[in-house]
Amino acid sequence: MKVTVVGAGNVGATAANVLATKGFASEVVLIDIKEGLSEGKAMDIMQTAHMLNFNTKVTGVTNDYAATAGSHVIIITSGIPRKPGMSREDLIGVNAGIVGGVMNSCLEHSPEAIFIIVSNPMDAMTYLALKNSKLPRNRILGQGGMLDSSRFRYFLSKALQKAGYNATPTDVDGMVIGGHSDKTMVPLVSLATYKGIPVTQLLSQELITEAVEQTKVGGATLTKLLGTSAWYAPGAAAASMVEAIALDANKLIPSCVYLDGEYGEKDLCIGVPVILGKNGLEKIVELKLEGDEKAKFDESVAAARETNSRLGDALKA
Ligand code: 2OP
Repeated sequence: MKVTVVGAGNVGATAANVLATKGFASEVVLIDIKEGLSEGKAMDIMQTAHMLNFNTKVTGVTNDYAATAGSHVIIITSGIPRKPGMSREDLIGVNAGIVGGVMNSCLEHSPEAIFIIVSNPMDAMTYLALKNSKLPRNRILGQGGMLDSSRFRYFLSKALQKAGYNATPTDVDGMVIGGHSDKTMVPLVSLATYKGIPVTQLLSQELITEAVEQTKVGGATLTKLLGTSAWYAPGAAAASMVEAIALDANKLIPSCVYLDGEYGEKDLCIGVPVILGKNGLEKIVELKLEGDEKAKFDESVAAARETNSRLGDALKA
């Protein structure tokens, strides 16, 4: 299994590093436009191979798409990250052009690849990638739900600790759907559990609201602390999606996919629970959303459509 990671910035390099340490890919190619960056990061990762005991071959190239030929899965992280105070949506103008160009170059050399889009605003970039490439929807996935759900589990574990439980993020189950956006992502409180117990039975409304709000601005909080957007969790999230595909794990991972009637929506890419396996998207899992969660998902859909409307000329007719 050959995986390409486009963009050797923080997120791309972290994804390549996690992929290497997990060891299921025989080859990972890191590619960037900045001379020497991919080569350096790949070499640095390879110098951990002996210590971390992996056999994945990681190589770095500058803009040489021929080196990515025959990739099974391609992660696209290209574009600019946000700075403190920016929303993901603020990046749309610059990143739309970059993601469109990168998709074309990748497809030229890996016509069968499955794509995982990480560049922001991710839901709109996934839509753009799908529309412009005209690939079937099973091959274009966006990474957001895995990351946001992982952040939700983290913040719920903190809330449970405040309530007196010795909870860790792995003790908690929780899912975030909707757009990968500060304002409109939808952490599904009704389905969140601690060791199988609904968190609604263990946490006060105040603690639940706090965990939800912290989750929604999880990326912005880190951008403020770091001066640029986060990378460990986003990189690991993209690598987990590759793993589900590579191992044909048929694993349920919330991901951004194209809806064609599911959830009552059409012609939109947004986060919903899906099964990922060897074909990429194997199945969309339709949840019965009710009340406030349904209303919030509808709001998220409307916001994602509004962002797509700003893709402008980047979207081919
Ligand atoms: C985040 O939420 C980079 O969008 C990514 O951290």
